[in-house]
Amino acid sequence: MSTTAPSPRVVVLAGGLSHERDVSLRSGRRVADALRSVGVDVSVHDVDADLVPALVQLQPDLVWPLLHGTSGEDGSVRDVVQMLGLRLLGSGPRESRIAWSKPIAKTVAARAGLATPDFVTLPQSLFRELGARHVLDAIVRMLGLPVVVKPSRGGSALGVTLVASADDLPQAMVDCFAYSDTALVERAVLGTEVAVSVVDTGDGPFALPAVEIVTEGPYDFDARYNPGRTEYFTPARLSQAMTASVAELALAAHEAFGLEALSRTDVIVDADGTPWFLEVNVAPGMTETSLLPQAAEAAGLSLGTLYRSLVEASLGR
Ligand SMILES: Nc1ncnc2c1ncn2[C@@H]1O[C@H](COP(=O)(O)OP(=O)(O)O)[C@@H](O)[C@H]1O
Ligand SMILES: [Mg+2]
Repeated sequence: MSTTAPSPRVVVLAGGLSHERDVSLRSGRRVADALRSVGVDVSVHDVDADLVPALVQLQPDLVWPLLHGTSGEDGSVRDVVQMLGLRLLGSGPRESRIAWSKPIAKTVAARAGLATPDFVTLPQSLFRELGARHVLDAIVRMLGLPVVVKPSRGGSALGVTLVASADDLPQAMVDCFAYSDTALVERAVLGTEVAVSVVDTGDGPFALPAVEIVTEGPYDFDARYNPGRTEYFTPARLSQAMTASVAELALAAHEAFGLEALSRTDVIVDADGTPWFLEVNVAPGMTETSLLPQAAEAAGLSLGTLYRSLVEASLGR
């Protein structure tokens, strides 16, 4: 007589009310389909007023948050899942909160010895109090140009502008404040952009092949989610030594931030061969054009098998 372990019951959380709702719905659907294809019992739930009663009633073995943007990545939904006594796939609420705030994350990364571009953080209120012009002049004196202006918390490049001329800085700040009450202005790094995903299926974290991102113009929301606007090279066209360095950087970030199961670190390698840490994502995109699935497939992993292994590792099986 043979016994098969019953399939774990997984609830994927997708949707939510962030600016990245649609991306999250696509990520959720893709992961759910891949898990179903390998026989995992999975349902997808939105983050709405029905979620808590549904989780209490369903008592799933595991909850996988595929939420991008505020509540999904700032740790709050993860807190609620844990409050309900349920098990979470991925990083914990505290670790997510630290990674979610770009200024805090850059400080953590710098303390761990990773190179991250110089930056300043400016709340909208202070910016107004001090007078925009004086502050912007000081920023340009300190950081030089070009700089990148981005929301201190956010994703999918929403509200992000590369600013080459001081005249364009005020508008970039306004665009950024539409997404966040605090702007992060950092020195722009010109070079090769790569994203390095890290997964841990129970035997310790390992880096997937770096994905190189080449866009005409900015790697913005449109370039990310419309097939054809961006060219990807997996593995990235880096030397063997640089390939090892960016993998090392992503693993160091995963470990320094205390992340679990999966993460993706965004990196730019400059002309001198320094890889710069931009940010680390605890809920990387999982849509058809997203970077982690591309990297996994390039490594010869089937997405269903990989995701099932992540589920099983999170359940301690
Ligand atoms: N310092 C920088 N120098 C050059 N480009 C940058 C810099 N910071 C961000 N970018 C560009 O903006 C994009 C979004 O920035 P990122 O910090 O990854 O935020 P998010 O992906 O959360 O919106 C990056 O993928 C990159 O193309
Ligand atoms: Mg990013």
